[in-house]
Amino acid sequence: IRVLFATSEVYPLMKTGGLADVSASLPEALCRLEYDVQILLPGYPDALRAARKAGSRRKARFQLGQYNVSLWQTRLPGTAVTLWLVDCPPLFDRPGNPYKNEEGRDWWDNAHRFELFGKVGAMIAMGEAGLSWRPDLVHCNDWQTGLIPVFLEAYHDRPGTVFTIHNLAYQGLFSHETFRALGLPDSLWNLEQLEFYGQLSFIKGGLVFSDRITTVSPTYALEIQTPEFGNGLDGLLRHRQDALTGILNGIDNRVWNPEEDPELSFHYGRDHLKNKTQCQAGLQQELGLEVNGGPLLGFIGRLVEQKGVDWLVSVMPHLLEQGCQFVVLGSGEASYEEPLKRLARQWPGQMSLTLGYNEGLSHRITAGCDLFLMPSRFEPCGLNQMYSLRYGTIPVVHGVGGLADTVKDPQEVGIDKATGFVFTGANADSLLAAVNRALQVFEKRKQWRRLQDNGMAIDYSWKQRARTYGDLYQRILKERDQQQL
Ligand code: ADP
Ligand code: GLC
Repeated sequence: IRVLFATSEVYPLMKTGGLADVSASLPEALCRLEYDVQILLPGYPDALRAARKAGSRRKARFQLGQYNVSLWQTRLPGTAVTLWLVDCPPLFDRPGNPYKNEEGRDWWDNAHRFELFGKVGAMIAMGEAGLSWRPDLVHCNDWQTGLIPVFLEAYHDRPGTVFTIHNLAYQGLFSHETFRALGLPDSLWNLEQLEFYGQLSFIKGGLVFSDRITTVSPTYALEIQTPEFGNGLDGLLRHRQDALTGILNGIDNRVWNPEEDPELSFHYGRDHLKNKTQCQAGLQQELGLEVNGGPLLGFIGRLVEQKGVDWLVSVMPHLLEQGCQFVVLGSGEASYEEPLKRLARQWPGQMSLTLGYNEGLSHRITAGCDLFLMPSRFEPCGLNQMYSLRYGTIPVVHGVGGLADTVKDPQEVGIDKATGFVFTGANADSLLAAVNRALQVFEKRKQWRRLQDNGMAIDYSWKQRARTYGDLYQRILKERDQQQL
């Protein structure tokens, strides 16, 4: 089966979050299962530079409206996966974040940028882009690719389509004027299709017109059908519940492996954990913390409402007073960065804050901490808790979405099967209570070791999970064959 995997981020070429990790590791896992999956990515400057350096070639060139577009064929670095770059300098030749300018505001022409990206995706899908390769199925990811199924709907012999929701909170909403300016057919402007409370919704395109919808964990698939987590789209998702499934994300076991992680100076594994202590001491030294054996608590992530940073900030003083150390790595909104900065000033040697994006440090934090906190208000899947589990670092998580699916609490399954601590109340007090429960177990070395071992024994790889996507692709194609008869 040939699959075009359309995405706006792919690790290591462009990344703001977990979408990038998944867009690299899932296609790679599928290719290993003999699926011919090829990735389509906007031609960001760094990605094009890497492609040119690797000797890649321009494979097609065409005019789309006022734009000259070319398609570059290259490989995802370090893999055998084919990657297509949509080169259109006026839209994509911009440094930094793929969606925002340097002031942190959305690019004014995001609708145009991702409409063009979607059009090119549809052209490749219909064999109209001048390539010799044509997919049987298009796999779309998040709102940036939401118009692809819309464009494809016009063709009787279109390929199958699947749309994966990585985060329903980001929907690609634009004004009615923008809808007009894009030249989309007027017939699409209604509540059953692209209109969302008077605005154009890109994500609705994906949700309404795709053959199947998936999301990145089973629990999130249920949650988004409720008003609490549905972001106004729960009605539509309930309507499409027969087409909707949750498939848990996997992780790239080679990038995230404590036995040979190149970002670490010391390595360890499930049956030889001793060096984890060295990793902790190294991290404490690197960040100017007292080297004292912990407990060291970590947080990595985008500093936005979703991640529960306000709950974290309000429990930190209590835990710092009890003698805990904190390492925080992230970047995001000033309203979350400021209180974290204040805490770091008040607690030198005990609290470290690194603002910005730092891949290497994120590995050293994952290895060096005792506890990893993810108090997310909602979490479609979450990757960091799986990275932590694999590194023998015990997660404390809010029991929502993929966090509920991947972390098991002693109160639920008993200490012999538990892997971390889960709180269910959506507030700071519940977070604090869960951390305190964790700290009590931390004092009981044998029980702690048990938790670490349970977490490290689990297989988080893509192998099985990618198979589930493969089965879904096959089902979609079979259903389309039947429809076309
Ligand atoms: P989301 O996609 O909602 O941000 P995920 O848990 O799925 O959440 O994925 C986040 C990914 O981004 C992880 O790989 C995490 O390590 C990484 N990440 C987030 N912030 C940073 C940062 N400041 N520095 C390095 N890596 C980061
Ligand atoms: C989104 C979600 C995150 C998920 C990631 C990859 O960014 O917020 O929970 O792990 O996508 O699917």
